[in-house]
Amino acid sequence: MLRFVIIAAVAAVFLPVKDALLVNMTKNLKVVVSSNDYPESGLEVLREHFTVVQSPYSHFGEEGATTNKEELLKLVPGSSALVWVTHHPITKELLDTAGPQLKMVATVSAGYNHCNVPELKARGIKLANTPNVLSSAVAEVAVGLILGAARRFTENLEQVRRGVWEISFDKGLGQDIRDSTVGIVGLGGIGQATVKRLSGFEVGKFLYTGHREKPEAKALNAEFTTLDNLLQQSDFIVLAVPLTDETRHMINSTTLGKMKKNAILINVGRGDLVDQDALYEALKNKNIYAAGLDVTTPEPLPKDHKLLTLPNLFVLPHIGSATVRTRNDMAVLAANNVINGLTGKPLITPVLP
Ligand code: DGY
Repeated sequence: MLRFVIIAAVAAVFLPVKDALLVNMTKNLKVVVSSNDYPESGLEVLREHFTVVQSPYSHFGEEGATTNKEELLKLVPGSSALVWVTHHPITKELLDTAGPQLKMVATVSAGYNHCNVPELKARGIKLANTPNVLSSAVAEVAVGLILGAARRFTENLEQVRRGVWEISFDKGLGQDIRDSTVGIVGLGGIGQATVKRLSGFEVGKFLYTGHREKPEAKALNAEFTTLDNLLQQSDFIVLAVPLTDETRHMINSTTLGKMKKNAILINVGRGDLVDQDALYEALKNKNIYAAGLDVTTPEPLPKDHKLLTLPNLFVLPHIGSATVRTRNDMAVLAANNVINGLTGKPLITPVLP
């Protein structure tokens, strides 16, 4: 017993010293934060361990896109890690400019299609993303898009703005979620959270498709099926898959042609999952009922884009993860990934461990 007490006492004295030494050793490592909109919560975690350099610009808008890129090329030389808050591609130029000491990239997003995974892998640079913490926020937006598209929010809001309300018992009618078939393309964290949130809407049947059956599906009462079958049967089709070479334009004129006339397409993944020209035609010709998009190509969608002329399209400006709590959680997770990555511990949410 006495031996245990002594060991515990010695450990209590020396462990904090060890931690402090570790922090001292990492303090000279430079970590670059790619834009000025990264939350203070994440900066605090990073500053405790590293020398943090942050771009004074954000990547939004035309000016942001160019100014921030130039600024980043100035900031990255000598950095050990990049905290990537923007959707700017991680280019070879950027990696070459950063230098061979760059050990890791932490993208503050679940999606990492902009991160040039093959190039990072070839250079032995670790990559972490921020999945899971944003699933509920993105799922809430998926539900919002379902409601917005099914109940014709775009044209109804337009009537309110114009001050001309077409109120009539047979006008402005939308579609029910009750008793519908909802097909989820990609039953990952976001897909599962969407099913959970919709379970109060008396959905008739949940279908899902993906590479393989998911053990979580049973508890969610979701039935595994092929993409073709899902497209043919679903009243609502929710895209919740990452953008890869396989999923790019998975919704095109052929797959749109398989959907029901009353189908409503929802996209909370990435704009390029959908061939937008084909979607425009399908919506304009009423081959499908409506669509709800949180993601488009490009972002921002130019205000004179032909998609925005469609009354049966409900669009949001990529706000899936945009809540105070979720953005803080993402920032802190990214910062903790950097700490682990630069101190030889396993990444918490690795893409390239
Ligand atoms: C993500 O995390 O990938 C969301 O789309 C927010 O960028």
